[in-house]
Amino acid sequence: MNVYIKTYGCQMNERDSEAIAAELIREGFRIVKNEYEADILIFNTCSVREQAERKAVGKVGILKRLKRENPDIFIGIIGCMAQRRGNSLLKELPHVDFIIGTEQLTEIPQIIKKEIRKREKITKIETGKELLQGLDLHINTENKVTDFVSVMRGCDMFCAYCIVPYVRGREKSRPIQDIADEVRGLADNGVREVMLLGQNVSAYGLNQSAAERPEESPFADLLYEINKIDGIKRIRFTSPHPYFFNEKLINAIAELPKVCNSVHLPLQSGSDRILKKMNRRYNSEIYLDVVNKLKSRVADITFSTDLIVAFPGETEEDFKATRDIMNQVGFDNAYIFKYSPREGTPAAKQADQVPQKIKEERNQILLEDLKVRTKQHNRTLEGRTFEILTEGPSKRNPERWNGRTTNNKVTVFEPYENISTGDLVNVQIKSSTSMTLFGKVIGR
Ligand code: 5AD
Ligand code: SF4
Repeated sequence: MNVYIKTYGCQMNERDSEAIAAELIREGFRIVKNEYEADILIFNTCSVREQAERKAVGKVGILKRLKRENPDIFIGIIGCMAQRRGNSLLKELPHVDFIIGTEQLTEIPQIIKKEIRKREKITKIETGKELLQGLDLHINTENKVTDFVSVMRGCDMFCAYCIVPYVRGREKSRPIQDIADEVRGLADNGVREVMLLGQNVSAYGLNQSAAERPEESPFADLLYEINKIDGIKRIRFTSPHPYFFNEKLINAIAELPKVCNSVHLPLQSGSDRILKKMNRRYNSEIYLDVVNKLKSRVADITFSTDLIVAFPGETEEDFKATRDIMNQVGFDNAYIFKYSPREGTPAAKQADQVPQKIKEERNQILLEDLKVRTKQHNRTLEGRTFEILTEGPSKRNPERWNGRTTNNKVTVFEPYENISTGDLVNVQIKSSTSMTLFGKVIGR
């Protein structure tokens, strides 16, 4: 049987979909890229913003016709939206056959193999299952330079706007040796860069991470362990919380040669008043302290971030504080989101919701600020030489290749003889835009 999997949302979902696909292949299924060739269609969904849910519901909605024409196909919704909405999705989308939540992901291959043929509607949503084992298979690693490895799941932080702690459950971390084994397997297959994933990755290995700011950092210990693995040249991670950037973690980032000098550090807002209402557990001073410590210890470090504009009650002054801190840090990338009320979260109940028009305006302003700044920053890199991990021919122009610097700048250059993905080369930067560096290979 042919299976089509479509993924919405974060890298964690991408990773889960890959693991499910790998498991299905092992069980004898074929994974197809075209939904019309599929016997089983699976939608791995996201709930973080309303727009993400609307997209998935819209997509599954239009499959009603496909199902009418071909009643033998099976359609399933899995992941965060399945967890959050459960059976009510079956009412809204009666042509759907199965709904499986975030803590039953490892059961999907068995459900597909054994249960769906019975032609009864299936809903499997439980919580507290502490899903940890399984989901460690990868597909087709031969040509991959970078691969994702999920190290922990869930989130205990309960930021006031966020649905994740409700749909992904409590934090649970995999044992360090299981993760190291998985990474060693990837390295043996040619992977050179790993992206360690978790909803609150920097809380890896902590119990009750949100209780008080910890002095320990099991996540730093994990970085030391992964750094030892031959074949792995670069280590990245996402998404951390600034609360866990203590001395131990900062030391690990500064000391370990393979940990990249670009850090994604979600800020959400620059206003202390809003940060407090968001229950973020840091203020601008603590955030800047982490940034400045990292800047002083890691050459050429770059930062990227997540920002929410128009959180309930955000005034012009609050918004200005966000713009100011953005300039102070000088982010090289930012994912800017318009606040989206999520049912069941404290912020959604607040009366002082910000009008849509202001949301749009503030979003545009931050995007423009970011573009201006990255363009300026990239220009200062012209003339300098950086080590690039090669990734393959550029999508826009296959005569050129691209790769990235360790501080995560996409760099385009002319290929050399016998170039292969995963090479480390020195590239001198000749020109740039706000998104890309262009250069010439000057040594290997
Ligand atoms: N509205 C808008 N953005 C949100 N995020 C999380 N919840 C919401 C919400 N309700 C953003 C945060 C988080 C990123 C993954 O999504 O910035 O870091
Ligand atoms: Fe959501 Fe906050 Fe947890 Fe991130 S740390 S997943 S924003 S609750």
